[in-house]
Amino acid sequence: MGMTGDELIREGQHVLANTYARYPILLVRGEGLKVWDSTGKEYLDFVGGIAVCGLGHCHPKVVQALEEQARQLIHCSNLYYIGPQVELARRLCEHSFGERVFFCNSGAEANEAAIKLARKYAKERHGEDQYEIITMENSVHGRTMGALSATGQEKFHKGFEPLLPGFRYVPFDDLKAVEGAIGPQTCAVMVEPIQAEGGIILPSPGYLKGLRELCDQTEILLIYDEVQVGMGRTGKLFAYQHYEVPPHIMTLAKSLANGVPIGAMVATDEVAQAFSPGTHAATFGGNPLATRVGCVVIDTLLEDGILENCQEMGAYLVKRLLDLKARYSFIRDVRGKGLIIGAELAFEGKEIVDRCLERGFLINCTAGTVLRFTPPLIVTQEEIDRLLTVLDEIFSER
Ligand SMILES: Cc1ncc(COP(=O)(O)O)c(C=O)c1O
Repeated sequence: MGMTGDELIREGQHVLANTYARYPILLVRGEGLKVWDSTGKEYLDFVGGIAVCGLGHCHPKVVQALEEQARQLIHCSNLYYIGPQVELARRLCEHSFGERVFFCNSGAEANEAAIKLARKYAKERHGEDQYEIITMENSVHGRTMGALSATGQEKFHKGFEPLLPGFRYVPFDDLKAVEGAIGPQTCAVMVEPIQAEGGIILPSPGYLKGLRELCDQTEILLIYDEVQVGMGRTGKLFAYQHYEVPPHIMTLAKSLANGVPIGAMVATDEVAQAFSPGTHAATFGGNPLATRVGCVVIDTLLEDGILENCQEMGAYLVKRLLDLKARYSFIRDVRGKGLIIGAELAFEGKEIVDRCLERGFLINCTAGTVLRFTPPLIVTQEEIDRLLTVLDEIFSER
């Protein structure tokens, strides 16, 4: 007989690297917004793999694409052309500013590619000394050494120094600070259009436009990290499209293939030309399984009214949270775009997350005090109502 859920959890506490504060449940199945643990308990999932399962768990089109592709070709080297990879690159370019795509396997890896491309482009164009990238305080760009060095939060750096040289941090949403930081050594500015892990922080209306102008004036590149907010999460395919300011480079991952690991760096042709064969690579990047699903994700987002649902349901969830804010003074703020929504509390959010879990709802907390809601973009009003009823009860018991 196989091991029980409890046994696997106990073993996991010993054999898994201690990198996540895991909840003591083992999820075994998912469908739409629902997931079930090994005891058969059902949950409504407002985490969605942290902005990964945009189409919900085991979406039939995703499952079908995986099954078909698994029978056809699971992997081949990038020494050869892969049909679904070309198809996904075409879709990403058709629907964004981009003209060329590099595929990899995660958000951190996509950002590593962006950092390398920006440096290579600047060195070829402007000389060896132009390598510094300005990034934002309170940002998160990933845990590999380059992406970690780009991340503007000391708590993530601690214990891993020395960091990669060549990053300078300035406050988010502060154009003057960026202007002051740009020097002869600067090659790019890298920013999350909306800071996600940092607590769902939205920029002021003119911020991205101002950044682009500064970059153009000083001939440096603008890089958007859309790893968490891209792929429909904000109600448009890419978050930058709300602000109508394209970058030179954009990174994607998380929901690009609805949970099949993938990352992508999208760039203009001119900038992408700085890479040539041998300068950068990823064995699994653009693998047939992941890119086949990526095509299905984009087509479904655009053809099945998912972006519209995201906008409508996002507005509804914000409205319901604001109703709670009017009644509970410890809710300090409610903010977000589409279905990446934060409710900032006057205290640590973990206790609320724990209570929701007991009651059969997965939610998440980021930046200590911000309850984060990133449900699949197919969430219904009825599912939101169920969560809000329970949240209201939990808040009223405080
Ligand atoms: C904005 C942003 N960039 C990069 C990353 C890193 O992505 P990954 O965990 O796939 O390496 C994250 C992860 O949360 C993220 O939110």
